[in-house]
Amino acid sequence: MYPQLSMEGTTMLESTQNTLVGHITEVSGGRMIATLLTEAEGFQPVVQLGTEKVSVGQIGTQLLVRHRALEILCQVIRMWEEPAEGHAGAPARRDALTATAPRPNRRRRLVLLPLGQLNEDGQFERGVKAFPVTGAEVHLVTSRQLETIFDRFRSQDLALGRLSSRPDIEVFLDPNPLFTRHLAILGQSGAGKSWTVTSLLQRAVRTMPRAHVVMLDLHGEYGWRDEHGRWRSAFPERVVRHLDARELEIPYWLLTYAELVDFLIDKSDPTATLQIAYLRDVLYALRKKANAHLELSQLSVDSPVYFSIKELYLHFKQANEQQLDFGKTKGALYGAFDNFLVRFQSMYNDTRYDFLLRPKKRTSSESLESLLRDFIGLGEPKRQITVIDLSPIPSDVRPMVSSQIARLAYEFNYWNPRRREFPILLVCEEAHQYLPREGSPELQATRRAMERIAKEGRKYGVSLCVVSQRPTELSETVLAQCSNYLCLRISNPDDQAYVRGLMPEGEADMAEILASLARGEVLAVGDATPLPTRFQVYPPDPPPQSADVPLAESWRHGPEDLDVGEIVRHWWQQKR
Ligand SMILES: Nc1ncnc2c1ncn2[C@@H]1O[C@H](COP(=O)(O)OP(=O)(O)OP(=O)(O)O)[C@@H](O)[C@H]1O
Ligand SMILES: [Mg+2]
Repeated sequence: MYPQLSMEGTTMLESTQNTLVGHITEVSGGRMIATLLTEAEGFQPVVQLGTEKVSVGQIGTQLLVRHRALEILCQVIRMWEEPAEGHAGAPARRDALTATAPRPNRRRRLVLLPLGQLNEDGQFERGVKAFPVTGAEVHLVTSRQLETIFDRFRSQDLALGRLSSRPDIEVFLDPNPLFTRHLAILGQSGAGKSWTVTSLLQRAVRTMPRAHVVMLDLHGEYGWRDEHGRWRSAFPERVVRHLDARELEIPYWLLTYAELVDFLIDKSDPTATLQIAYLRDVLYALRKKANAHLELSQLSVDSPVYFSIKELYLHFKQANEQQLDFGKTKGALYGAFDNFLVRFQSMYNDTRYDFLLRPKKRTSSESLESLLRDFIGLGEPKRQITVIDLSPIPSDVRPMVSSQIARLAYEFNYWNPRRREFPILLVCEEAHQYLPREGSPELQATRRAMERIAKEGRKYGVSLCVVSQRPTELSETVLAQCSNYLCLRISNPDDQAYVRGLMPEGEADMAEILASLARGEVLAVGDATPLPTRFQVYPPDPPPQSADVPLAESWRHGPEDLDVGEIVRHWWQQKR
């Protein structure tokens, strides 16, 4: 009953004989509807293709639409059934009730999303230049055909998992677009983001031994001590260096003027404007004084050079107490800095801020070099991945430290003449904590630093990999600049809709499957895969320390008592 297309040559006939499953019955902008063969016409729900069994019409699988020389690879995004002709009036409910009854004439329909075309050499090209007409044949795709699609990417050797619909096919990603044009890894808690990051990086450094990755680890998941006190890491020792953010010592003098203002001055204070203006003068004078020996002609309030924070404090104190004429008149700034001084002192005396305000190693401008070396993995020992553990530092300063790390990464390559040969990837775990949307003034500095990388980093070989469970809370600028998304399970409809909005047009329909992804299953969208691909990520080896707690086991056989004194000591000493 469907116009059969004439076959060109017998070889095609032979090779297509058992792959034909239906015909196109409707074509509209960007979508196609296919009607599968009826059982009477030879429909089989599962077809044996060589050694593999393929379910026909399963959502998420690929089909090939053939029309003359045109071959279009499509993805099944919907399937439904209609009553057989002749029974058109039959109620749908009854249909469902009798679903198991053999009805040789029922019509199965599919909505197909075109992904791209196969050219004459069987190579896959994204996008569809010409659409087929109704009556075009719909075929199953053989493994060989799917494999050739990944062929172009295979040479880069970055295999991250296996196709969910065809586990015999490995999924290869192209590291060039993946790591140069920003990557987002999104998914709800426990979906498998940290495992995916680990697996990806483990494989990346294996195939690219000169990779440079800096990772912000917020929970100490990538390096930790086990219950026997042994050091464990999610990466082999020869590729990774773990740095405790406190030991890395990002000193206060690296902060720019604007960052120091954010850190030291409470903007709601009535004398804030005075404090800001005075800070500028003092800061410039102090930076200049401490670095006369460097003979820098370009020195500014923002220069990353040493100054003494104690002297800064003393200047404020003196101005605040200044009296003239033996106490008869008060200085112009008398009393203006009361709040500033109290705030400063409380921060300075808070040991949690020691790594910032009381550096031990980084006490001269010259120490910037070793800081940069340590940070980028060129210190002793040289390593490809530098994991910066932010878990020991107070959560209110994490955004500032993250912003410094982002700024260091950016500035490092901005001033690096060999930046093109030295691309850096900054992985931001739990990015929603310090990389928020507009609206939280205290996180402005991190947002600015990260957004700068998102907008301009590509030119200087600095890229971001943001990992988050709350895409709706993340900076839109950063997310919008990402060219690749690895989406794990997202069941919250708001987040789902948001992620859908981020995806390129035409591929957004794929977002429907986000809620149905299994643990560690990813929908990869972007130019690092030849087509939007749903696959199961290879588990990392070794995995990060992010496993769920074995609740049932612990609640049955867990400890009867605990050393609570020890917990208190850890808390007091801020040591886990
Ligand atoms: N590729 C995978 N294969 C098998 N199991 C996986 C895979 N990915 C994740 N899992 C399982 O899911 C658990 C949670 O994964 P993971 O810690 O990566 O989640 P997450 O998305 O980072 O969560 P959170 O947002 O809370 O950090 C893992 O401990 C592991 O048991
Ligand atoms: Mg995680």
